[in-house]
Amino acid sequence: QPAKKANGLSFDFKEIEAGVDHTHHVAEGYDAKVLLRWGAPLFPDTPEFDPKSQTPEKQARQFGYNTDFVGYIPIDGSSDHGLLVANHEYTNEELMFSGVGIQDAKDVAFAKMTKDLVDIEMAAHGGAVVEIRRMNGEWQVVKDSKYTRRITAETPMDITGPAAGHDRMKTCADTTGRKVRGMINNCAGGVTPWGTWLSCEENFNGYFWGALSDTHPEAKNYKRYGIGTPAYAWGKFHDRFDLAKEPNEANRFGWVVEIDPFDPTFVPNKRTALGRTKHEGAAGITNSDGRYVIYLGDDERFDYVYKFVTAGKVDMRNRAANFSLLDEGILYVAKYNPDGKGTWLPVVHGQGPLTEANGFKSQADVLIETRRAADLLGATKMDRPEDIEANPQTNRVYVMLTNNTRRKDDQVDAANPRANNAFGHIVEMMPDGGDHASTAFTWEVLVKCGDPSVASVGATFSSETTRNGWFGMPDNCAIDSQGRLWISTDGNNAKATGRADGLWAMETEGEMRGTSKHFFRVPVGAEMCGPFFTPDDETLFLAVQHPGEAEEGAPVSFDNPITRWPDFKDGMPPRPSLLVVTKQGGGKIA
Ligand code: FEO
Ligand code: CA
Ligand code: CA
Ligand code: CA
Repeated sequence: QPAKKANGLSFDFKEIEAGVDHTHHVAEGYDAKVLLRWGAPLFPDTPEFDPKSQTPEKQARQFGYNTDFVGYIPIDGSSDHGLLVANHEYTNEELMFSGVGIQDAKDVAFAKMTKDLVDIEMAAHGGAVVEIRRMNGEWQVVKDSKYTRRITAETPMDITGPAAGHDRMKTCADTTGRKVRGMINNCAGGVTPWGTWLSCEENFNGYFWGALSDTHPEAKNYKRYGIGTPAYAWGKFHDRFDLAKEPNEANRFGWVVEIDPFDPTFVPNKRTALGRTKHEGAAGITNSDGRYVIYLGDDERFDYVYKFVTAGKVDMRNRAANFSLLDEGILYVAKYNPDGKGTWLPVVHGQGPLTEANGFKSQADVLIETRRAADLLGATKMDRPEDIEANPQTNRVYVMLTNNTRRKDDQVDAANPRANNAFGHIVEMMPDGGDHASTAFTWEVLVKCGDPSVASVGATFSSETTRNGWFGMPDNCAIDSQGRLWISTDGNNAKATGRADGLWAMETEGEMRGTSKHFFRVPVGAEMCGPFFTPDDETLFLAVQHPGEAEEGAPVSFDNPITRWPDFKDGMPPRPSLLVVTKQGGGKIA
């Protein structure tokens, strides 16, 4: 358990004021510096960023847009030298391109999108691998690194595991059902003990346009994933994103992708054994018996919490042996019972209702329609499961449930205890006997989020939590090497709360359990992403996603942004950026 100070808290930093303005704020005594921003040249020959002369070719050699997950993979165990892996989740065309229009008028924006602009967007998606080094206390990007890589919506990938090669995965361009181009809407993720990066496709539905007839064999499948209401104009120029022309392409997205960042020629693997959902993240833990267990949230109102348990064991002496681990194992979905106990239900073909009578002829069918399989199993419908992290010191597992304002009074259950849940909550799970492979667990609600001073909200932060310390909409999270929980949020910049999103530290042990403190906040319009610590806890990586994005109904544009963070230069739009936080004079983030 983390060491406690005299006041009973394990966190020492001086809390910041909650609020919202044009820039970011970090706790006193810490530095938060931009390391990489959208458009940063990554290769020695990449030209300087100019938002008005952007091209798809340049974007594919620059840092992409809207990082959600950030991971740090040490080189030779170092906390001062390693590979940064970052997802580029989505794009804000209204802030990237002059004259394209506001976020809410999608039809207007679509009409203005040219093929070049679409191709820039596709190149701004995916992810990046960047070698970084801390010299004299300052983090720097290694510019001529052999590891530097950009992955985009066009990068060739392999499909592996039980759904690979299935007829439902085949398209005109890929008659094998084993090759796909690109990963899209990659939200959070994970890094494995064998040094690979897990990157999770989340809201992939928004990239497909056109429609299938109601009688098409994939019609119900696609409806369950919300496919058919496009948010992007890609289908206008790329047939594979038009369902009428390529009805199976959407089955090839919604997976967890494994990437070896140490080999820039590595073909990323879409690991179908982990299921097809709107994957928020994929944080894992090596179980006491050596098997690897990955916790997975499906970020949708009334969707589920999953875990995947590998069949094989992690082998730290033979790195290559681990590269097939994620193709074989058992996927489970969680059922939370009212008595504080719970069960992991196997999502396995032939078991329970997952049979041909219900349209599942094989495990491939089960995985392609993971959500429908979980519906039939009777899993617990949650309030948008986002990031999940297991604490290796206590084996407790923390599930961020971001919000669900559509839950009605008669849909309330023990694990989702509030109707109209605007601020979300966190569920703590304890695997039976500390065994992450067990199908039994106990659970309790760690905290119901929101403003504790408003009785009707029903928030349950400890009484030691200050007016700055509460938060809503937990999204990503991290556990530092001392076993302490850090939570980043998405949605607090709503006018209702008067505060920006940010990072909060939360006590989980002892008398101060449920006490939260505010460490960092983002500029207006942004969401807080990352967080990720170096093994020595001296550096914290944070991502500021979509700075300047419109709040509901408020038009913003490239030419008239509400902030120009972080450059604050005329003509330069706001730029999503990745930050490094360190303590002034050195030392752990405390
Ligand atoms: Fe991309 Fe679940 O947030
Ligand atoms: Ca996000
Ligand atoms: Ca997220
Ligand atoms: Ca979110």
